[in-house]
Amino acid sequence: MRTFTRRAIPALALGAAACATPVAARGQSLHALAAAKGMRFGAAMPHRALGDGLYLDLLRSECGLIVSENEHKWAAIQPAQGVFNFAPADAMMAWAAENGLAYRGHTLVWHHVQWLPRWVNEYQFGANPAAEAEALLRAHVTTVAQRYRGRISSWDAINEAVDHTDGAIRETVFTRALGKEAANDLIFHIAREALPNEQLVYNDYMSWEAHSTTHRNGVLRLLEGFKARGVPVDALGVQAHIGSANTDNSVGFATQNEREWRRFLDEVTAMGYDLLITELDVHDRTLPADVAARDAEMARYLRGYLDLMFSYRQLKDVLAWGMADHYSWLQERWLRDDRAPKRPTPYDAALQPKPMREAIAAAFDAAAPR
Ligand code: XIL
Repeated sequence: MRTFTRRAIPALALGAAACATPVAARGQSLHALAAAKGMRFGAAMPHRALGDGLYLDLLRSECGLIVSENEHKWAAIQPAQGVFNFAPADAMMAWAAENGLAYRGHTLVWHHVQWLPRWVNEYQFGANPAAEAEALLRAHVTTVAQRYRGRISSWDAINEAVDHTDGAIRETVFTRALGKEAANDLIFHIAREALPNEQLVYNDYMSWEAHSTTHRNGVLRLLEGFKARGVPVDALGVQAHIGSANTDNSVGFATQNEREWRRFLDEVTAMGYDLLITELDVHDRTLPADVAARDAEMARYLRGYLDLMFSYRQLKDVLAWGMADHYSWLQERWLRDDRAPKRPTPYDAALQPKPMREAIAAAFDAAAPR
């Protein structure tokens, strides 16, 4: 858990004063700028943010929608079979509703062994594994989806089913029991039964970096398969964890291939899928330490990315994976060589806006209406 450094405390107090004037009053909020173009801007929050009034002020003043960082995930919401823990997600949703903020669902099934609860990974499916696997999926997906019906209109039904190393569908207890395509198809079918009118999203981290080619191709195959088999998938969620690769290996900061990325997005949208940016942040693991230079480079890079993404009218929702640096998941993993805190989000740890915030604002401003 992050603690504020002594140097950060006066700045934090300044942040508090600045926050007394809502950001919206100092200019237009990111969500207002988005809304002017028929778009929405929001952010992920963790449950512990409910105890952080200054951060809540920031979310309230900049966002139009919220997504739970972890609290709707299977491991959090059904930690043991038949034991549901809705309280954290419910409390966050209550806060959002009180403040007029919409809510996204993330995620019904994080279809990845590392992130499914252990009890699921170790589940004994018995003599009829296909039927048992279906029953387990149905119990989870239907219970969670129905509970939030009418309050969550867009769900990441499946997260990260494609292995980025070989582009194949990941193997899990469910794919072993049902087959790789069939397991993923079934999750969407079950979700659609519970949510006839909601947006159902396939969400993944394929991106525009050169090293993501295999992943992009795998996701394309999955989406083509969904189309060919009539699986009810409405949109592709592009996580958009851009910048340095989320690995410990030293890959450079800006290795994007815009032509390849456009070709990918063209194919996705030509199949009729909508697009969302679901988890935006910029990873500065491999950028030089100088803060002003780092911020400027990240803002420049982000602006280029958003301009490209916003050129697709199918893209309406943009969510940041955290609004201030001390809330970023990237502080805890893939550390910088110099161990300096990272700056992946629009606001710094003193809740002051950074150039990245201006880059997002300018990109919304430049976007064509949709
Ligand atoms: C991350 C959270 O931010 C962390 O707190 C948690 O420990 C792991 O998950 N892709 C996703 C998100 O789809 O759910 C992940 O969130 C970040 C990567």
